[in-house]
Amino acid sequence: MAAINAVTDLTVEGDIGVVTLNSPPVNALSAQVREGLKGAFEAAIADPAVQAIVLICEGKTFIAGADISEFGKAMTGPSLQDVQNTIENAPKPVVAAIHGTALGGGLEVALVAHYRVAVPSAKAGLPEVNIGLLPGAGGTQRLPRIVGVEKALEMVTSGQHVPAKAALAMGLFDSLVEEGALRDGAIAFARVVLAEGRPLKKVRDLSDKVEAARGKPEIFAEFRKANARKFRGFLAPENNIKCIEAAVNLPFDEGLKEERRLFMELMTGSQSAAQRYVFFAERQAAKIPDVPDDTSTIPVKKVGVIGAGTMGGGISMNFLNAGIPVTIIEAKQENLDRGVGIIRKNYENTARKGRLTQDDVEKRMGLLTPSMHLEDLADCDLIIEAVFELMEIKKDVFGKLDKIAKPGAILATNTSYLDVDQIAAVTSRPESVIGLHFFSPANVMRLLEIVRGEKTDKSVIATAMKLSKTIGKVGVLVGVCFGFVGNRMLAQRQREAQKLILEGAMPWDVDRVLYEFGLPMGPFAMSDLAGLDIGWDPAKTSSSTVREVLCEMDRRGQKNGKGFYDYDENRVAKPSPEVEKVILDFAQKRQIQRREISDQEILERCLYPMVNEGAKILEEGKAIRASDIDIVWINGYGWPVYRGGPMFWGELVGLDKVLAGMKAFQEKHGDDFKPSALLERLVAEGKGFKDA
Ligand code: 3HC
Ligand code: NAI
Repeated sequence: MAAINAVTDLTVEGDIGVVTLNSPPVNALSAQVREGLKGAFEAAIADPAVQAIVLICEGKTFIAGADISEFGKAMTGPSLQDVQNTIENAPKPVVAAIHGTALGGGLEVALVAHYRVAVPSAKAGLPEVNIGLLPGAGGTQRLPRIVGVEKALEMVTSGQHVPAKAALAMGLFDSLVEEGALRDGAIAFARVVLAEGRPLKKVRDLSDKVEAARGKPEIFAEFRKANARKFRGFLAPENNIKCIEAAVNLPFDEGLKEERRLFMELMTGSQSAAQRYVFFAERQAAKIPDVPDDTSTIPVKKVGVIGAGTMGGGISMNFLNAGIPVTIIEAKQENLDRGVGIIRKNYENTARKGRLTQDDVEKRMGLLTPSMHLEDLADCDLIIEAVFELMEIKKDVFGKLDKIAKPGAILATNTSYLDVDQIAAVTSRPESVIGLHFFSPANVMRLLEIVRGEKTDKSVIATAMKLSKTIGKVGVLVGVCFGFVGNRMLAQRQREAQKLILEGAMPWDVDRVLYEFGLPMGPFAMSDLAGLDIGWDPAKTSSSTVREVLCEMDRRGQKNGKGFYDYDENRVAKPSPEVEKVILDFAQKRQIQRREISDQEILERCLYPMVNEGAKILEEGKAIRASDIDIVWINGYGWPVYRGGPMFWGELVGLDKVLAGMKAFQEKHGDDFKPSALLERLVAEGKGFKDA
């Protein structure tokens, strides 16, 4: 065995040269890896004993792509294209042996091998689109030559990881070998190639699949149209599509040039910078400075959920989906039946769409035990309370739980705003109490705010962080404060939106500006969706806000066809003249002189206070880092990932500009715009949030 460098070996086994990469954690194509690969292939090519070459990786995966942490820095070592040329032009057959995930640049390396073998658990994909990029090492030119244009379009714009069996069926893999026996299987495959004298297949030379799509621009037009909603605001999908078009319409080398040009366009833009930041921010959020990775965790084999309403049902589904049994408790039989019925209906809808078998539905429902007795939670490892948002009720529930739950069980509350420490204080075991704040719909939204109480034990935190991964969520640790991170910042935006409609804008103006910014909907459309009458009490109503007046007029939102907007039978929203009049009358009664409000002002009024509130949250230590706040907003509120989250966006705008904006608004509109001390300090010191 010869070490080529610290991460690459070349072993010669009879007539086969085996190039082994070992660069944890994911064998990403760093300068060192590229250098090792080039050196190893050159050595194997030069060795007369070697008749064929196998490329294999140690660790959990084949090459998972370019090294994203190197992006934006000066390149050192050989380029990836250089490495690929060496492999593709090798005069001996090259076999890529794939396990784990061959992603991005990793798959692009495999695509310059002459053959690809994999174990059944392997996956392959070109996920660059998810970091605002496109496959920049020939992936967009080679992939359609194997799988055809339609599948290639799907793969590069979704970034999906294709399982081995499907990859085999579409010709991306040539053969599957036994799980756990990749090395031997790949060597045996290489020997068959040699024995049968199979050709050195170069993907670049294949042409039938791309020719089949030539002269059919409608393929692309239809694809764009079908996905317009999904791609809205993103630049990368369009550039990926253009590359596939180039593969169809241009000779291979010209296509490569076009791919490079479109790649660089994305690489130098702010969207990809934001999406790469989010990639690392999400992984960073899992790291808690005083709760190290080796902190002991509590096994969660059985979960209890209290309340089978909007949230309790969705929360339960997360655990049922992960195969963890759930006992769900309600106070009234009819509520229990309704809640369980909704869970079943959700699963059946998914089954109807073909994303679940009827068997799966029954299996999941079989894990659910409905009950009216809190005592049935005695053997649960984790109990999540999702009853009404009232402190007295929560305290009552936790007081009872304290007597019922087994020692060491985690007692969690799904409260949106209430003080977790106060809730914990009614128990004899505040160290076991934590907030697990799911977002609606709880079985869909990826965010889980994990609220650390004053006395929450580290093992409880570590368990919650781990569990969030088990149920497919992104867990973000936050501190106790009103509304935690997400809702606390949301309140800023909501307040300004309400003020803006009295000062001169209309709900549809505010909504349009925020929608165009990239949010899934504006605040007024959101209120209509949720229902204007949430928390509205007809007995206590006093026409004190526009919303109250609308409720008094029975404008309750989408559910009865009228809220801030009028809805037609297809739930399409139209600006409402009636609402316009309500707003004008309301402003007049308050003697507000209405004025023209620019889109820019709407955006700044709604978003600057959010950035400022984020700074306060950081200052108070309620979030560990600014990037955690961004992860909350991206996964819980649909903040466009290509804008990196409010804190990233604030820095992109310039913290000095945000501060100046806040001060100018403060002068005109008062202390709602008082800048946070942290923002002032960072601007004075010319620093960013990461230096906070
Ligand atoms: N570059 C640098 N670091 C990477 C990386 C990459 N491509 N992929 C993963 N990592 C790091 C992560 O940051 C993490 O580091 P940490 O432990 O210090 O936080 C570590 O590897 C493990 O990653 P995960 O926690 O995500 O591990 P999982 O096992 O959950 O997932 C994975 C593994 C599926 C490979 C996932 O990490 C992933 O999807 N990675 C990104 C793949 C990707 O986007 N590839 C394309 C890159 S762009 C490219 O190739 C351009 C080319 O076309 C020219
Ligand atoms: P909901 O009103 O839909 O459901 C609450 C359920 O709890 C009802 O079915 C009720 O019968 C039941 N319940 C009340 N007291 C009970 C008791 N003592 N024992 C057993 N069951 C009892 O309310 P929703 O929306 O599900 O909210 C629940 C909690 O989740 C609240 O704390 C809320 O703030 C929080 N939350 C709500 C979100 C939302 O978007 N709806 C989002 C995130 C958190």
